[in-house]
Amino acid sequence: MQYAKILGTGSYLPANRVSNDDLAKKIDTSDEWITTRTGIKFRHLADDNEKTSDLAVAAARNALASANLPAEELDLIIVATSTPDMIFPSTATIVQQKLGIGSSGCPAFDVQAVCAGFMYAITTANAYIRSGMAKNVLVIGAETFSRILDWNDRTTCVLFGDGAGAVVLGASDEPGIIHSKLQADGDYLDLLKTPGQVVNGQVWGTPFLTMDGPGVFKFAVKMLSKVADEVITEAGYTAGQIDWLVPHQANKRIIESTAKHLGLSMEKVVLTVQEHGNTSAASIPLALDSGIRSGQISRGQHLLLEGIGGGFAWGAVLLKY
Ligand code: ACO
Repeated sequence: MQYAKILGTGSYLPANRVSNDDLAKKIDTSDEWITTRTGIKFRHLADDNEKTSDLAVAAARNALASANLPAEELDLIIVATSTPDMIFPSTATIVQQKLGIGSSGCPAFDVQAVCAGFMYAITTANAYIRSGMAKNVLVIGAETFSRILDWNDRTTCVLFGDGAGAVVLGASDEPGIIHSKLQADGDYLDLLKTPGQVVNGQVWGTPFLTMDGPGVFKFAVKMLSKVADEVITEAGYTAGQIDWLVPHQANKRIIESTAKHLGLSMEKVVLTVQEHGNTSAASIPLALDSGIRSGQISRGQHLLLEGIGGGFAWGAVLLKY
């Protein structure tokens, strides 16, 4: 049985970079409030003509180049997103078309698990490779959350941004993804949601993100710590063997709590939330790509990826890079 190994990574942030001070000119907030509560300094916002698939394709091209793999050799594309280009077809098929490999016939589909989307997508890709159903898989997290935010609601709009990250996984005799775990608890769906839907040409319910911030915070810290422990223990590892924690970049305080629980110093955590805010499914591959390109993460090191989002849905992945 072959492992799923990371062959290459890539990412993309839209050019429009908005600071906390920029936001404070439009709504009643401050750099001090946002920084102390979240660690966020900037977010990047897509232009009107930039779609989620455009961000995804830019990240995918970077990942394919770093993997040195022609797009034609992909045999599966998975896009994690909660902000797809359209109701259907999937953003993954649009990405396939924009990469110019529609005629390859490789399967392509979206996964929707909000901020846990990348955990769900990479775990699905791992299952395809472990079972022999795929050899080279492109896994993307891409979002344009700026389009589902109420820009007059200071309790939510300051937290999120747009972006994309991508990973090319290839079948390998060497590890690879060692262990992963996904979980969900739909009893908490009201704490974080964008309930609107289009019905007979009209929007029913609010099309904007709503959130119980403190409720999300509490649950996130508890469940991320638990799933991280479980993945490490079930794989027969200890937290001391983790070289880098690559967490979902929602909030610096949630990240610090998880690291502290694992006994990891912040020097072992890839932190990028200050640069792009919460980019939902894109945040883990964005952080991973940043960690690799900056030289923090080296080949052979053990990484723990973890994330949680609306649903709630959450998960963690232990891998050897
Ligand atoms: N600027 C200034 N003041 C603000 C802002 C703002 N942007 N937003 C809220 N406030 C005010 C509130 O109105 C409140 O004022 P009041 O006391 O006069 O009513 C005060 O700040 C405190 O509000 P709280 O909600 O208690 O602030 P808290 O310390 O809990 O921080 C936060 C809020 C940052 C949202 C926190 O709860 C949090 O990080 N939760 C996690 C949410 C999250 O990360 N969600 C992402 C999606 S899920 C995921 O990715 C894990």
